[in-house]
Amino acid sequence: MTFKRHTVTAALPYANGPVHIGHLAGVYVPADIYVRFLRLQKKDVLFICGSDELGVPITLRAKKEGVTPKDIVDRYHSMIKKSFQQFGISFTHYSRTSSPIHWETSSEFFKSLYEQGVFTEEVNQQYYDEQSQLFLADRYIQGTCPHCGFESAYGDQCENCGSSLSPSDLKNPKSMLSGKAPVLKETKHWYLPMDRYEDWLKKYILEGHQEWKTNVYGQCKSWIDQGLKPRAMTRDLDWGVPVPLAEARGKVLYVWFDAPIGYISATKEWAAANDKAWEPYWKDQDTRLVHFIGKDNIVFHCIIFPVILKAHGDYILPDNVPANEFLNLEGDKISTSRNWAVWLHEYLEELPGKEDVLRYVLCANAPETKDNDFTWKEFQARNNNELVAIFGNFINRAVVLTHKYFEGKVPAAGTFYDLDQEVISRLKDYPGQIAASLESFRFREALNLMMEVARLGNKYLADTEPWKVIKQDEQRVGTILNLSLQIAGSLAVLAAPFLPKTSEKLSQMLGLTGLTWAQAGGQSLVPVGQKLGKPVLLFEKIEDVVVNQQVAKLEATKKNNTTVITPGKSEIAFEDFLKMDIRIGRIIAAEKVPKSKKLLKLQVDTGLDQRTVVSGIAQYYSPEQVIGQSVTVLLNLAPRKIMGIESQGMVLMAEHPDGTFSFLQPDKQMDPGGEVS
Ligand code: 2FM
Ligand code: ZN
Repeated sequence: MTFKRHTVTAALPYANGPVHIGHLAGVYVPADIYVRFLRLQKKDVLFICGSDELGVPITLRAKKEGVTPKDIVDRYHSMIKKSFQQFGISFTHYSRTSSPIHWETSSEFFKSLYEQGVFTEEVNQQYYDEQSQLFLADRYIQGTCPHCGFESAYGDQCENCGSSLSPSDLKNPKSMLSGKAPVLKETKHWYLPMDRYEDWLKKYILEGHQEWKTNVYGQCKSWIDQGLKPRAMTRDLDWGVPVPLAEARGKVLYVWFDAPIGYISATKEWAAANDKAWEPYWKDQDTRLVHFIGKDNIVFHCIIFPVILKAHGDYILPDNVPANEFLNLEGDKISTSRNWAVWLHEYLEELPGKEDVLRYVLCANAPETKDNDFTWKEFQARNNNELVAIFGNFINRAVVLTHKYFEGKVPAAGTFYDLDQEVISRLKDYPGQIAASLESFRFREALNLMMEVARLGNKYLADTEPWKVIKQDEQRVGTILNLSLQIAGSLAVLAAPFLPKTSEKLSQMLGLTGLTWAQAGGQSLVPVGQKLGKPVLLFEKIEDVVVNQQVAKLEATKKNNTTVITPGKSEIAFEDFLKMDIRIGRIIAAEKVPKSKKLLKLQVDTGLDQRTVVSGIAQYYSPEQVIGQSVTVLLNLAPRKIMGIESQGMVLMAEHPDGTFSFLQPDKQMDPGGEVS
């Protein structure tokens, strides 16, 4: 079927943090490549995205930072939008789900489904924090994991053993808002009866969309085969779109109900600002709807959102959902909380002008069929060995030689030999091959084919050696350079979806404007006699020091992350605390314990007496460094023999993330004997 227009969406990123290379590789680079390819074919295409600003992820971040959810979304919305812009992600419109039009649109959707009797209503018991007077989202409850005993497991997952949990699985549940044990309380919610749509989903996906990527189709099949359950579309939360029902005061729409509707709201916002109609992009059967997402979003875009659209009526359904797998970083999962990521705003600052290089590397190694790994070494190698040595080198030679031999004017082609004909015919085939790969969402393959065109050009110049031929046959060199410049012109078109900034620079050098896909592969793309612009280098070599710095930066993060936040200990009575006699002392003598690397034998003036304390700090302090230091000592710990020496107490130390230790010292001068309480 040929479509009249295309609505392409990219997952709305949560505005609870900056975006990183995993986002770019998984969703935004492939979506942008696809959209740019459609635009080069002069198709009517709308590319929609925006910030996902509602729901628990935002409130959690706000709580962690001690600011309001609005502060969080305002900060990250602008930051994310700017990063995308700088990487050339060419959205037609980038909106946000806190916009009034989104609240209206998602409210209207809910009301329409409610009035059609789509929802079922259920009253269930849920954890409630009496002190904060709030029902608790799963992530707001912590307790002991029933599987591994970890004491800080969340209500939806234990981060220690990875088990997925529900809040009722936790032992000793505690509210993260007040620290108190929550109580179970009844609450009513509106459910989307997914089970009633099973047969329809089987027809729509399992029969109707067997062309979907294997990873996507497989995940959908497994969800459907396991049997679908009703899903609550409302939540007890104070950050979201209010449920538009009188009896639902204080409840909001589930973030996964409103977020995909955000694509529609954003379209409306764009249409209003540009005097266009939004409806054809969502309701006409000859519009193709494609969602670009990461694999964790598959169920929401392939199953839940289509059910919402179908239940509402009037709307077209996603025709394809080319979800990617995940990108890892230097062998480890990308993690926001562990700061194991390459953040786009930092990359832009630290490697300015290299936006296309990252787009290239992320596409060349995109996690299209399985999780993949990004390494800085590979980044460097692909830049130096592919972009610089093949693409950049070919273009530079073609343009520089034209300047040198023909005053920068495109020479006419004379007789073509077999070698030229072979190149001409290969060049002609590439646009079709690349288009076929792009249409099937095989972006890596498409990128490889584009690079083959640059290789073809490079080899052609190496085989024909115009710098030698010029001495005998200037006309022949004209032919060689004309053909080389036609290859370069094709590259300006074929590289445009992948490397938009490079394509622009190249077009300027060749004097080309308003490129279309149909021009690629032809022999008259760059007209004879056209004056070329000055040669500029498209790519530059990346030295070891640059990538080594990036690796060191990551390694440093790892060190800072080594603090294992040990689970909190169980409660003790105040009387237990009072039993400890903790005082300030001063170290008056120190020596290494023979045959031990770790131990120092200290003489401590406690104010009451002078006593011996053995302490495991020899790797961090020399005896000279500790003499004279004020320290905090636990005095009434039962004496213990360590390496044959009786230790009469314990010097208290704080452990740093890197495993070193610090004394706990009073911040004002203090004589030995002062009590700690
Ligand atoms: O996973 C995420 O980052 C979600 N914010 C994606 C939402 S996509 C769409 F439904 F809005
Ligand atoms: Zn666990």
